[in-house]
Amino acid sequence: MKITLSVIKADVGGYVGHSESHPEVLAKAVKCLAKAKRDSLLIDYHVTKCGDDLQLIMTHQQGEDNENIHKLAWDTFCDCTEVARKLKLYGVGQDLLSDAFAGNVKGMGPGAAEMEFEERAAETVIIFMADKTSSGAWNLPLYKMFADPFNTIGLVIAANMHTGFAFEVHDVKEHKKITFNAPEEIYDLLVFIGAPSRYMVKAVYHRETSEIAASSSTQKLALIAGRYVGKDDPVCIVRAQGQFPAVGEVLEPFTLPLLVEGWMRGSHHGPLMPVSLPDSTPSRFDGPPRVIAAGFQISDGKLVGPRDMLADKSFDNARQQANDVADYMRRHGPFEPHRLPLEEMEYTTMPQVMKKVEGRFGSLE
Ligand code: 13P
Ligand code: 13P
Ligand code: MG
Ligand code: MG
Repeated sequence: MKITLSVIKADVGGYVGHSESHPEVLAKAVKCLAKAKRDSLLIDYHVTKCGDDLQLIMTHQQGEDNENIHKLAWDTFCDCTEVARKLKLYGVGQDLLSDAFAGNVKGMGPGAAEMEFEERAAETVIIFMADKTSSGAWNLPLYKMFADPFNTIGLVIAANMHTGFAFEVHDVKEHKKITFNAPEEIYDLLVFIGAPSRYMVKAVYHRETSEIAASSSTQKLALIAGRYVGKDDPVCIVRAQGQFPAVGEVLEPFTLPLLVEGWMRGSHHGPLMPVSLPDSTPSRFDGPPRVIAAGFQISDGKLVGPRDMLADKSFDNARQQANDVADYMRRHGPFEPHRLPLEEMEYTTMPQVMKKVEGRFGSLE
């Protein structure tokens, strides 16, 4: 059975500030998707949140980039925005950057990760969702999962993974894409994906079978809006087990609270803290950035789950380390590298401040 898994997300208003989502907003989303399920547009759905981001997880048979599915997500975000407006939540409709739907949510503000596949006998998927970070945050974890034998022993000892994986990388500034094969081309691959504010891993494929292994959202809100409107807060779908990394290999990269951009006003680097769903409430200096993971078995398109995968005690040390790194980074205050480099600040106050003081700059000569 061929099914499509679509994860489409947007921040339609925060409760309180940018720290969390309001239950009434989530309840509205459930209502909208329940109707779509009754109407047989969806096979199944699960509504959740990561911090202030509303997450629509949907299974259907319409394929990727389907207009009906994207319209359903858009209309749901619009309806939820009305709930947020009534409650006067913070940043109402924050990620809805356009007034009218034009066939696809891409380029309109919401983020989307989708994949179509033939459902396996046991279809294990993990959906990662992050708040207070940008789309490139998945580069390092995806590299570890699919290219690093020190993370994924299956690359070494599982015959069905030994030929490696292919990484589709997007240049979000030039709107170009390229595919690199791991393991032969990992040095070339790392030149690009080690710069995650511009180059992002969009998808990963099993090389022998060409099966889709991972798919992420790569929309860059600032590039769409041309100014700071909030961080991308990306999502990523990863298939596990069989010819893909085991669940434990998929989760292992998050034992490193990697430094990502997106903390406080989208203008700071901070550690990505792996947390349970209830702990995805970034509150300290609007952070530190969070990642959650919802695990499902998919059965004839039905979402069996979720299991809250990063709630496990074995991530306690990573959380502690993230808090220690957060303390250390915060002591830099408004200085780089806690604060983002200048080119990323273009979308915040830098242009206005520059304009104001321009005339006061004298020559060094
Ligand atoms: P099974 O032998 O049950 O497939 O388990 C393999 C595995 O994923 C262990 O990490
Ligand atoms: P969000 O992108 O999650 O809305 O956060 C915005 C922000 O500036 C928090 O400080
Ligand atoms: Mg917000
Ligand atoms: Mg957010």
